[in-house]
Amino acid sequence: MTATIPSPRIRAWWERPGLEAVDGRLRIAGRDAEALARAGTTPLYVYDLERVRENAGALHAALDGTGLAHRLRFALKANREPAVLATLRGLGGPGEPGSVGIDACSPGEVTHALAHGWRADEISFTGTNVSERDLDVLLPAGVHLNLDAISQLERVGRRAPGTTVGLRVNPSAGAGYHDGLAYSGERPTKFGIYADRLDEAVAVARRHDLTIDTLHFHAGSGWLGDGLPAFEVALASATAMARRLLQLGCPLAEVNVGGGLGRPAREHERPIDLDAYAAVIRRHLGPLGVAVALEPGDHMVKDTAILLGEVVTVEERGGTTFVGLDLGWNVLCGYFIYRFAQEVVVCRAADAPRTQRVTVAGHINEAGDVFAEDYPMAPVREGDIVALLNAGGYEQAMSTDHCLRPTAPALFLERSDAGAGRAD
Ligand SMILES: Cc1ncc(COP(=O)(O)O)c(C=O)c1O
Repeated sequence: MTATIPSPRIRAWWERPGLEAVDGRLRIAGRDAEALARAGTTPLYVYDLERVRENAGALHAALDGTGLAHRLRFALKANREPAVLATLRGLGGPGEPGSVGIDACSPGEVTHALAHGWRADEISFTGTNVSERDLDVLLPAGVHLNLDAISQLERVGRRAPGTTVGLRVNPSAGAGYHDGLAYSGERPTKFGIYADRLDEAVAVARRHDLTIDTLHFHAGSGWLGDGLPAFEVALASATAMARRLLQLGCPLAEVNVGGGLGRPAREHERPIDLDAYAAVIRRHLGPLGVAVALEPGDHMVKDTAILLGEVVTVEERGGTTFVGLDLGWNVLCGYFIYRFAQEVVVCRAADAPRTQRVTVAGHINEAGDVFAEDYPMAPVREGDIVALLNAGGYEQAMSTDHCLRPTAPALFLERSDAGAGRAD
């Protein structure tokens, strides 16, 4: 008699600990996703807080491998939820290994970070078009400022001569999920001081007795595994500018390589190899003898949450099947604003074959309110609960009540609370 060996299940590309298809049903942080939605309301964000820790830990581990002094700061604009911030804060106090500081881009974010337990010296501010009113808050707060224009140097120099500041530079090269998300490149962008005006910036700083201790750049947002060469071009350019600052006598202590590391949203997209990323940083910045700072947002939180919604319409129009949801771009703007691809999973059939092509649309009365077009999806019925993946970065933070559609509540779950073997 020959025993039948069950063939191993093919895992969906997005599965990871805390986000799994178990007997075909989607589970997040050990709970049945559909049951969470049915027990409450939709749309509903559901966070897996352990994933926040895992993501920060992976970045720290990669940086540890470089042997360089390093600082990891979370770009607060990606997520400002108190539960997420408490989780990050819980990773370690100021200066402790594993701790995470804050990258703030507005006075409001500085105030928010201080209110959620960060010390001023753990907060790095990098803003654009910073006004006198912004400085009214930023200067007394005592946070380190990376200044991104010569006029900002003049303004800060007039108001706070003798301060130690950083320079945000524009490396004239960028990397992004697509061209529109690269922050620098051939076309001039509003960010940072270009190489041709670096000496002038240093002269302005000297005139105001400002000390330049940091060089900062941000290549762009959402770049993936295949974006590493483009990031390296930007890094090489920024490194040359750092060398120039050193030549000019600036006591450079930190090079901040920004954020911008993306998370795959589709099966064919390749994740970033963090060790390869760290090795590139080491190769360029190691010889400078400076500390390296990173300020990722999306990479730390994007895959920590899903957004649950109900299918309210499945209907063919003009040859296209539309799957209409009870949520809109006002609570999930990643595709609408940034053109990040959006993966949609049917919670009761999370690993079912994707046998139809559909457009997934929202309930805002605007033609652009769609999440995925010509999208291969598993069969779906009205009344089904679906999960929109990668909802942890820039989605809740950017929610609005546009059309007076309310913003969505959130559940913050710990895997450890799920209870072994519990079905819900
Ligand atoms: C200066 C700066 N740092 C960090 C970030 C965070 O980017 P991301 O969430 O893509 O890592 C941004 C995003 O716009 C930024 O402008």
